[in-house]
Amino acid sequence: MSLILGIESSCDETAVAVVEDGDRVVSSEVASQIAVHAQHGGVVPELAAREHLKALDPVLSAALERANVALRDISAIAVTQGPGLIPALLVGLSFAKGLAAGNRLPLIGVNHFFAHIYGAFLDGGRERLARRDTYPLLALVVSGGHTSLLLVSEDGSARQLGCTIDDAAGEALDKGAKLLGLGYPGGPAIQKAAQGGDPEAFDFPRPLTGAAGKALSDDNRYNFSFSGIKTSLLYKLRDLTAGQGTALAPQLLADIAASYQYAVVDVLARKAMAAAKAFKVRTIVAAGGVACNAELRRVLAERLPKNVELLIALPKYCTDNAAMVGGCGWHSFRKGAFSPLDIDAFARLPVISRVPFI
Ligand code: KG4
Ligand code: ZN
Repeated sequence: MSLILGIESSCDETAVAVVEDGDRVVSSEVASQIAVHAQHGGVVPELAAREHLKALDPVLSAALERANVALRDISAIAVTQGPGLIPALLVGLSFAKGLAAGNRLPLIGVNHFFAHIYGAFLDGGRERLARRDTYPLLALVVSGGHTSLLLVSEDGSARQLGCTIDDAAGEALDKGAKLLGLGYPGGPAIQKAAQGGDPEAFDFPRPLTGAAGKALSDDNRYNFSFSGIKTSLLYKLRDLTAGQGTALAPQLLADIAASYQYAVVDVLARKAMAAAKAFKVRTIVAAGGVACNAELRRVLAERLPKNVELLIALPKYCTDNAAMVGGCGWHSFRKGAFSPLDIDAFARLPVISRVPFI
């Protein structure tokens, strides 16, 4: 039995978890900084770093206490190395290096993007990962930083089919919510505001889908673009409020939020289903903060092709957490793939050729 301590600090959540043998989450503690960043309408990297510094020690103690273990029971430290905000990442990474060196434990740098996908396999999903009929697997990773389709084969080789060419899906929801005066973070706020709204009341564009008769190049078949949807919202709001910035009537707000949310969800689902069919996938995994979205979960399930399984991480493992880091890191631990103590944080997603958890 191996217990991996996961540490996550790539954005605005400070998280520490204890995970047994790759998929049994023994404890998962998350300290959110939302209140700090909400005043600024988005995440301020330097503020995030300062908050991580304050939160890491108590969050670590809470995670160990809840798991009823001590550092001497831990087999390795897995920490998010990137992609993410460099000042934020550096705090978690330095903390993890200190813990690893001080307790003579192996260090494992974990790619946050892979960890998000792994979130769908926590709490008993390892057996599914090992099954041949799970593959080919298509991962739709949708968060504040990513919108990506990754094709994963049985041997662990992987290829990014496409990604966003401008804003990420979560970013589009966050910016849309800001325009609508709904506050931060925008995804959950839009979902709430959209309740009782008509998703077809307003016509938002569906960029890079070939809708509206626009030709779609092969290069963009699995790419995404959300900045046009956001601009369309800006103009619609300007028209609706006659440029006065006045508040919308409740039903109008619900209708516009529902239509905006549905435009984002519709594009995500169309691309995912097109890729699933083209590559004859057996499993679709949806992961990342936006995968919490009830409308996205509903539409993906509704459009799922026959004989394809849909696997969506539990909401608590969709948004940033350390259980996905500890679980994903266990696979590197098992293979003896440890990181040196001088690893550096990285901001952007590197080119992907395989996943670490197969
Ligand atoms: O995975 P995550 O916690 O952090 C990143 O790695 O970016 O994702 C955060 C994103 C934010 O854009 C947030 O608005 C969005 O996930 N989000 C949601 C929901 N909950 C969080 N978007 C839509 N509906 C939700 N319920
Ligand atoms: Zn994330």
